[in-house]
Amino acid sequence: MNRSLENCDPTVWELLNQETARQCNGIELIASENFTSCAVMEALGSTFTNKYAEGLPGRRYYGGNEVVDRLEILCQERALKAFHCNEEWSCNVQPYSGSVANAAVYLGILKPHDRIMGLDLPSGGHLSHGYTTPSGKRLTASSTYYESIPYTVDASGILNYDEIEKLALTVKPRLLICGASAYSRDWDYKRMRQIAVACGAYLMADIAHISGFVATQLMNNPFESCDIVTTTTHKTLRGPRSAIIFFKKHLQQINDAVFPGLQGGPHMNQIAAVAVQLQEVMTQEFRQYMQQVLANSRKLCQELQDKGYSIVTGGTDNHLFLIDLRKLKISGSRIEKILEYVGVSVNKNTIPGDKSALSPNGIRIGVPAVTTRGMNEQDMIQIAQFIDATIKEGINIHADELSLAEYCKQFEANDVLNQIRKDIISFASKFPFY
Ligand SMILES: Cc1ncc(COP(=O)(O)O)c(C=O)c1O
Repeated sequence: MNRSLENCDPTVWELLNQETARQCNGIELIASENFTSCAVMEALGSTFTNKYAEGLPGRRYYGGNEVVDRLEILCQERALKAFHCNEEWSCNVQPYSGSVANAAVYLGILKPHDRIMGLDLPSGGHLSHGYTTPSGKRLTASSTYYESIPYTVDASGILNYDEIEKLALTVKPRLLICGASAYSRDWDYKRMRQIAVACGAYLMADIAHISGFVATQLMNNPFESCDIVTTTTHKTLRGPRSAIIFFKKHLQQINDAVFPGLQGGPHMNQIAAVAVQLQEVMTQEFRQYMQQVLANSRKLCQELQDKGYSIVTGGTDNHLFLIDLRKLKISGSRIEKILEYVGVSVNKNTIPGDKSALSPNGIRIGVPAVTTRGMNEQDMIQIAQFIDATIKEGINIHADELSLAEYCKQFEANDVLNQIRKDIISFASKFPFY
């Protein structure tokens, strides 16, 4: 039974090798991805995966929890310390992932059909903040079980707090949500608190994308103004796939919403890996890493602007930014595919004014992963050149009558693209990682 993966299942072993090679040979610019450490992966693939531990430390439904109780308490303590929480705060480290963490918050503090107000998906918000399609389809649990009335960014892509206030005073939501998946500016949590107080709402911040900046105090502090803060642990925080809910101590019912409300046994291997990562987050090296993420993001954004690309909001204050492709007359889906062909991973993204999330006019670019590999501002100049050359070729071969599939079929025979692809492999190989 205890053979190595290579011996036990060569098929999966081979897929694992291919994926590792893909990650190492390419330029990873998906804003929500990162490369976690070998120590985190060691904790993930450990005997902690075997243990059932329903309940909270000291109050479990199974025996044999002495060790995992200590582990979970350690993880909670590190989480509160890493995010500089005072004694008003408590946390739950059991959510399997970010969407589940948000669902647990709603289950804990809302009644079915209560109103929620978050940033709309086409404005950069996240599905789990109550997304409903423009035709009114309630695609998510958050829009099915609650009445979601989202706010939006203005035409330049920026949050307008006066407009949010006007809407909130009319809607009177029970929960006001700050946080986004594709917003390149910081949040004014103090202003959002005033709005929440004025309409009698709880205030929650979902800092999934920016938690690395919050922990290192390089962006505004949501803990000063919010009742609840949720975060994933695998984006800028660079840990395993998991999530944490921080809540003011009088909102203890959120613990029951996680278990038994939504989940069963916690994944103790994930909790071990989160604990390992939180220790790293508290180091000076991690702060320097986040400073470099910001410097790289600004540099790459500036380089692309200098080459004539239009950037939503005109720049960035965090790890990501959005390119507005409208004046280039080519869709985000095509640019995503052609960049993928040469070895640059990005994702198509809606920009302000877009109606369809499936055929949007933007691409989202983020630098946490390339920064983890050791790339700096000089390397951003090179990456901007790769992106620019690829997009130019993408526009060259673009024709409206071609379907996306037909468009992609042209890549293989294209010498310019094949040369860029080779250059990217040799560029990426200068930054060995795993
Ligand atoms: C702001 C925000 N919240 C929540 C999530 C959901 O996290 P998960 O994919 O772990 O469910 C994401 C994921 O991208 C996100 O960007």
